[in-house]
Amino acid sequence: MIEFDNDFTWESDKSIDEMMQEAYQKILLEKENGVSGYFTLGEDSLEIMEDALAYAASNEFIKKSDTIVIIGIGGSSLGTKAIDSIFKHQNTDVKKMLFLENPDEIDLSEKLASIEKEKTLFIIVSKSGSTIETISIFKEIIERFSLDFADGDKSRVTTITDEDSVLHKFSKYYGIESFLIPSNVGGRFSVLSAVGVVPLAIAGYDMKSILEGASIMAERFFTKKENHILKKAVFLTKHKKETPMNVVFSYANCLEDFTKWYVQLWGESLGKIDKQGNHTGLTPIGHIGSVDQHSFLQLIMQGPRDKTVTFIKVDNFEKDIKVPDITLKFIEKTDYINGYSFNELIDGECEATKESIVKEGINVDAVTLDVLNEKNIGKLIMYYELLTSLCGIMLGVNTYDQPGVEIGKQILLKKFTKSS
Ligand code: PA5
Repeated sequence: MIEFDNDFTWESDKSIDEMMQEAYQKILLEKENGVSGYFTLGEDSLEIMEDALAYAASNEFIKKSDTIVIIGIGGSSLGTKAIDSIFKHQNTDVKKMLFLENPDEIDLSEKLASIEKEKTLFIIVSKSGSTIETISIFKEIIERFSLDFADGDKSRVTTITDEDSVLHKFSKYYGIESFLIPSNVGGRFSVLSAVGVVPLAIAGYDMKSILEGASIMAERFFTKKENHILKKAVFLTKHKKETPMNVVFSYANCLEDFTKWYVQLWGESLGKIDKQGNHTGLTPIGHIGSVDQHSFLQLIMQGPRDKTVTFIKVDNFEKDIKVPDITLKFIEKTDYINGYSFNELIDGECEATKESIVKEGINVDAVTLDVLNEKNIGKLIMYYELLTSLCGIMLGVNTYDQPGVEIGKQILLKKFTKSS
């Protein structure tokens, strides 16, 4: 179960109802016209999941491998990493996942040194098929592990890409297994497509429940049972001048990569030049409670009043560790916590922080998961994707492109082609 509530202070008037109605009609059109295809991935990806499982079951090499190395960046890795980080602690029998994303020699050396060729499936994920970081790392993998695709090594590699991409051509040429990303599903909205479903299903995660959760959330939204997503999008975009930043405080370490996924989703989707030529967007900031209460919270409480705050919290961590009933000499004043569980402590931290922020008149909302299970995470992913689309509609931007990112890529290309 996942619950949403908010302390937004605003006067609901007719214009808000109209904004909600208009945004709802527009997102419906995006769905019906296939502007983006992520809305139905909860159902559409079930078949891909079955194909991936069948492929893994028929591949002798995958059966004996215990590690999956993902080579990809941005939308091609962040969502998969987020799900792996949340569930790896609960699933001890899944394959280990390693992410090669950044062309950082220290990170690469360390990770590459830990890879055992005989036990590793390499999955190259790139929608365009030619992202320079990803393909450069793939080249290093080929050389370092002497991969010879003509000589049987092709079963050690799988690609996930767009049907029209050069990586797909490459895969077909060498007979490498390749899974396709629907052409109308962009990188940062693709975690529930083959991008996340194939590696996570092969690793042994329960993707069926994640997809089911996503379907439930999409169905509730499109049948208007989850109206609060619309309300939140209206609230955030209506107040984009006063509060252009949204801080997500996730109260669980394993949600750290999820908050990074959210930061990418919002940043790359909403930071744009709108139809009137204005620079616009909502700035996403991701933090972990209670750790960042000891840092960023000060800025929220007494710094500029330019932020809204979202709390993501888990009611039950399903462990039972209690603070021991021990009195430490000179530190007796902390004894009030003795005997309480750590679950109660982190929950109390979250509630106390929320209350203190609300008292300051700062707008907050909360997303509460009863437990960290697959269905809830599927719902949470779809919730954030829908929210992003709605904010994009209300900001008057194209949520699904990234022209600003492309500029840097062109400059990089010029720099390297000039010097070679
Ligand atoms: O959301 C996006 O479109 C980007 O973050 C891409 O996912 C990222 O640039 C990687 O691109 P590709 O999958 O083409 O390698």
